[in-house]
Amino acid sequence: MRTRREVEMKMGHPITISGTFALSERAVVFQGDCLDLLRDIPSESQQLIVTSPPYNVGKEYENRMHLDSYLNQQAQVITECWRVLAKSGSICWQVGNYVEGGAIVPLDTLLYPVFANLGLQMRNRIIWHFEHGLHCSRRFSGRYETIMWFTKTDEYVFDLDPVRVPQKYPGKKYFKGPKAGQYSCNPLGKNPGDVWAIPNVKSNHVEKTEHPCQFPVELVERLVLSMTHENDWVLDPFLGTGTTIVAAIRHGRRGAGAEILPKYVGLARERINGEINGTLKTRPMTRPVYDPVEANNSLTIAPWTPKKVSNQLGLLAEMATE
Ligand SMILES: C[S@@+](CC[C@H](N)C(=O)[O-])C[C@H]1O[C@@H](n2cnc3c(N)ncnc32)[C@H](O)[C@@H]1O
Repeated sequence: MRTRREVEMKMGHPITISGTFALSERAVVFQGDCLDLLRDIPSESQQLIVTSPPYNVGKEYENRMHLDSYLNQQAQVITECWRVLAKSGSICWQVGNYVEGGAIVPLDTLLYPVFANLGLQMRNRIIWHFEHGLHCSRRFSGRYETIMWFTKTDEYVFDLDPVRVPQKYPGKKYFKGPKAGQYSCNPLGKNPGDVWAIPNVKSNHVEKTEHPCQFPVELVERLVLSMTHENDWVLDPFLGTGTTIVAAIRHGRRGAGAEILPKYVGLARERINGEINGTLKTRPMTRPVYDPVEANNSLTIAPWTPKKVSNQLGLLAEMATE
């Protein structure tokens, strides 16, 4: 696999960011409505489409609309995405819940028929689990969203090896049969499964910008590495801060996306340039999720635990006898 820097060296010039789509480009950030960008993209040219659309919950970048109108608008974009998707390509549509009067509507259940009616086939409904978010008082706090992965045909690109994760028991051996005594695990690691624990981009996350809901780069990297080849196009119709293009060019792919708000277009360009220059800070794909219990510090030890109280009492007793 060639990296972004190796691709640059091979091309003999650095990657630049274009404002309009052309197949000869490597990075395209279109300012405006995604349907306008999609109109300029040739049919069957995109290997991977990965996005997180607005959820119609009244964020600053969306006008909350009637659910039917929202679904119609999404269907228009999804249909255009289907047109530009390569025969061997994948669409990964990442969504959470629409909330109305305290009742939740999982958007994937509403959007599934749109994809299915276009003949797309679902390969996984990935649960993306994270730890940070709103604390609910009248329902359990939401700590997952889903990624719906669809392919256009049965002949789709899927390579597990670059995204395998460490085995739990790498020293396990076959205990019977012709391979008895030999190690049973794949030395490259195991299939990551369809429940992904990846920290979301909140407060202290190294990738945090002013955007309220960024993808973590590592989440898109896993999709890019398993569903595309070097030089393929990766498209994000709702680009936000440019995460999808960052992940694409990091691994020698081409990236394109549309963003309607100028301030996020600016952020996307800044982050992509940071990736090109090697200055963008991101959380590495291989870093295990931080376990606060292991940190064992004053923040992670409850002040009301008996051990702590008895330690404090012991200390007071010691002080009293000194
Ligand atoms: C959920 S955010 C995506 C964030 C992105 N995944 C990231 O990592 O930064 C959705 C984005 O879509 C943009 N948007 C909304 N409607 C759009 C449209 N019709 N065309 C292009 N972008 C749009 C919003 O401004 C917002 O930044």
